[in-house]
Amino acid sequence: MRVLITGAGGQLGGALQRTAPGWADITAIDVDDCDLTDVPMLRARLVVEAPDIILNAAAYTAVDKAESEEALARAINAEAVSAMVAAMAETGGRVVHVSTDYVFDGTASAPYAPDAQRNPQSAYGRTKAEGEDSLRPEDLLVRTAWVYEAGGANFVRTMIRLMNEREELRVVADQVGAPTWATGLARTIWALVEKRATGTFHHCDDGVASWHEFAMAIAEEAHAVGLVARIPVIHPITTA
Ligand SMILES: NC(=O)c1ccc[n+]([C@@H]2O[C@H](COP(=O)([O-])OP(=O)(O)OC[C@H]3O[C@@H](n4cnc5c(N)ncnc54)[C@H](OP(=O)(O)O)[C@@H]3O)[C@@H](O)[C@H]2O)c1
Repeated sequence: MRVLITGAGGQLGGALQRTAPGWADITAIDVDDCDLTDVPMLRARLVVEAPDIILNAAAYTAVDKAESEEALARAINAEAVSAMVAAMAETGGRVVHVSTDYVFDGTASAPYAPDAQRNPQSAYGRTKAEGEDSLRPEDLLVRTAWVYEAGGANFVRTMIRLMNEREELRVVADQVGAPTWATGLARTIWALVEKRATGTFHHCDDGVASWHEFAMAIAEEAHAVGLVARIPVIHPITTA
């Protein structure tokens, strides 16, 4: 089965390649191979390659920056997804798309079910929700949250860098989530693809933490394996 992975250099894109099952004949592309903001080029490539499945791990993921770059975020997170779905409708392929907890408003005190009401509160969340809207019943949507991976740009690596630079850190303690290893997410996606699953699924790792609790855990683990010389003082702060 021919599988095209987008976002090849990203956290999930890398994990999908490393965990790929033997039956998957993979082509992995990144922005240098095909810029998703160039819809005509994307469409031409998809129609010619006609993969059986697109695993779309590419995204505009700079959550805060998206507030001032919503058009660019929309081009990558929504318009490119729409082009992928349209191309697969022509060639007979399917799209496996990945989305985010930011499509919800974050006010729930229990985990969101896949059919929970969406209510995005940010530019990033809006563009990701629009991307979801392009999908057909035969496609697959997997939402996740708080993703980290050894090689990625993520909270874990940022914290380890800051812990080596500073003696004190301030970390938000009034937002909670489920930190999720990209490799586990990738395994779930491959398992869903093997089952030819359709519809919407949520995957995150077990447990819950605030960013502050996550930072404390990162400090302890990183110190234990010698990635930080000493555990800094980590002050809990509010989002405000
Ligand atoms: N990270 C999280 O905490 C998190 C949480 C919830 C959901 N998600 C979702 O999970 C999926 C994977 O996220 P991730 O953490 O693996 O993201 P990531 O590490 O930021 O990777 C995103 C990838 O998309 C590529 N990309 C960006 N703009 C592009 C463009 N114009 N054309 C082609 N490729 C482009 C990036 O390439 P460059 O690096 O070269 O720009 C990168 O390879 C995304 O759908 C994201 O919305 C992530």
